Parts: sequence; C-alpha cells; structure tokens
Amino acid sequence: MNQSDVRPASMERITGETQAKKFIDEQVKALREQIGDSKVLLALSGGVDSSVTAAFLIKAIGKNLVCVHVNHGLLRKGEPEEVVRVFRDQLGAELIYVDAVDRFLNKLAGVTDPEEKRHIIGKEFIDVFAEEAAKLDGIKFLGQGTIYPDILESKDGIKAHHNVGGLPPELHFELVEPVKLLYKDEVRVVGTALGLPDSMVYRQPFPGPGLGVRCTGAITRDRLEAVRESDAILREEFAKNGLEGKVWQFFTIVPDYKSTGIKDGKRSYEWPVVIRAVNTRDAVTATVPELPFALLQHITDRILKEVKGVNRVLFDLSPKPTGTIEWE
Ligand code: XMP
Repeated sequence: MNQSDVRPASMERITGETQAKKFIDEQVKALREQIGDSKVLLALSGGVDSSVTAAFLIKAIGKNLVCVHVNHGLLRKGEPEEVVRVFRDQLGAELIYVDAVDRFLNKLAGVTDPEEKRHIIGKEFIDVFAEEAAKLDGIKFLGQGTIYPDILESKDGIKAHHNVGGLPPELHFELVEPVKLLYKDEVRVVGTALGLPDSMVYRQPFPGPGLGVRCTGAITRDRLEAVRESDAILREEFAKNGLEGKVWQFFTIVPDYKSTGIKDGKRSYEWPVVIRAVNTRDAVTATVPELPFALLQHITDRILKEVKGVNRVLFDLSPKPTGTIEWE
C-alpha cells in the first residue's frame, strides 16, 4: 500500500470544530501545493464524501475546481436542486449540471436483472462523465471522495477502491483525495466546519444506483415517480416526527407487481408501496425499529392520497438477515 494511504498513528481523531479547522488549514495548504494553478475535475453526486471533497477543493482552489453533477433520474426528490443551490449558488462553485435522465432511463428500459441494472447505471455514468471531461481543457487532476474505510476495505479485498459513481478508471488524471485518511464521522465534522448544511453532511446512506434499486424489475418512469414521491413523504414525516437521526436508514420500494383494490368506488389494479426502516451499526446486520402505529397510518394515508398508481402500503418487518436492507 502507498505510504500516503496509511493513516499515521499520531493522527488525532477529529471530533470537534477546532480539530476540524486545523485539519482543513493543513489540507488546504497541501492541496494548493499539489495542484498549483491547474484544474481539478470532480464528479459531485451530492453524497457526503463527494460533497465534503468539493467543499474542500472550493476552499483551496476556488474556480479551478470544476464539478460535474450527473442527474441520472434516479436521485431522490429535490436532490439535484440542492446540489445546484448549495454548490453553485452558495459556495460559488464552477458546476456543470448534466441532465442525463432520458439517456439513463432509455438504456434501462425493459432491463429486469438487478446486476445488469447496476452495471448499466455504472457504465453510463462513466460514459457521461468522460464525455464532459473531454469537453474541458486544462484538467490535470481528478478529485475523489475516497475515505479511509474505502482504502482499508480495498486493501482487504472487500470492495473495489472506488465508490459507485466515482472515478472513471480510464481517465488518466492524477488523483486529489483530501479526505482519504478520514473516517466517516470525521468527514461529517469536517464537512460542517467547511460550511455544508446538515442535510448534506448527515444524509442517510444512499446507494450509487439510487432509486433504481428500489424500483424493482424493469424501471418505468411512472413507477419511479411513485418511489420518489413516496420516499419524499416518508422523509418529510420522519423529519417532522423526530425520527431523523434516530432511525439509521428509511426509504420506500415500489415492487413491479400490482394487486386489486378500490378507488373512488371503482376497482383499481395498482402497485403497493413498501416502507423499509432499519437500525444498524455497520449495515451487515439490521433490526426493524418499533414505530408509532399512528404515524405509520398517517404516512399510509398520505401515500394513498398523494402518490399516483398506488393502492396499498406495506411495512417490511424483516430483519437482516434474512432480508437485505435494499430489495435489490
Ligand atoms: P444491503 O441491501 O446489502 O445494503 O443490506 C447495505 C447498505 O449498503 C447500501 N447499498 C449500497 N450502497 N452502492 C452503494 O453505495 C450500492 O450499490 C448499494 N447497495 C446497497 C444500502 O443502502 C445499505 O445502507
């Protein structure tokens, strides 16, 4: 392993603002020395690691950082807008927003196999990103939100070094990885000290293939919309009722299956929405928290009234194992 990939034993755990600011000052100096007047390209998904990496690089090199946000159509409600608002409007970043929704959904049309769906999303992402990179001149570096667990896990052969939606391997840029020696909790503390909002820094885990893994089977636009809208209602209600930060991960799934119901006095034949909520330390095992029944009823009412094409709401009571957290 590269020596610069080893966290020095003397490195203090960053738990508060003072330590975070000291780390930021040191890193900003090191980044300026490494990068000089060159330009850095960064795929900015809006996830915690890429967002903190972007905030770091904006502080260090300002407009010489070029962020690319690819909207693949599988993001949660309001996410692309938040990335633009925070990075372009508030932090003044140079941000290229790529609307690739049609491109991704057309490629995914009719594809039912979960692994094939993930593969298409990953490959298409790299293609879109590489196309954007090819349009730009003077890029010498590639920013990447690698964090310390990524390095440790890739050393142990658990997963490939790069996050989904991260580095296209065929782009031969030099890497810039300002948070690569930090653990996740430290990345969050540093992100806050860099001025990022809690909604970004304390986001729950979200898979790279996004809502694509929660719209099981072949993704259709209408069912994807049902996933997005029901997820937004669930998140809003959890936030309003003090469950955000108490429940580790929560989301909805809309399976590719219809059942009979009644709407406006007529027979309906529509999808169910499944609510998934879990607590876990490390995502290897998970339990289902006890939630107030009245709240579940209220969320059910809202989903049935507000989400098109849905006539049932279910709550997944399965722990992991036997169920995984995601459905695909
Ligand atoms: P499972 O479904 O395996 O999920 O119990 C464990 C945790 O990993 C997240 N997850 C992913 N994260 N890319 C990611 O970055 C993925 O393809 C992916 N699949 C699952 C999942 O949300 C859960 O937190």
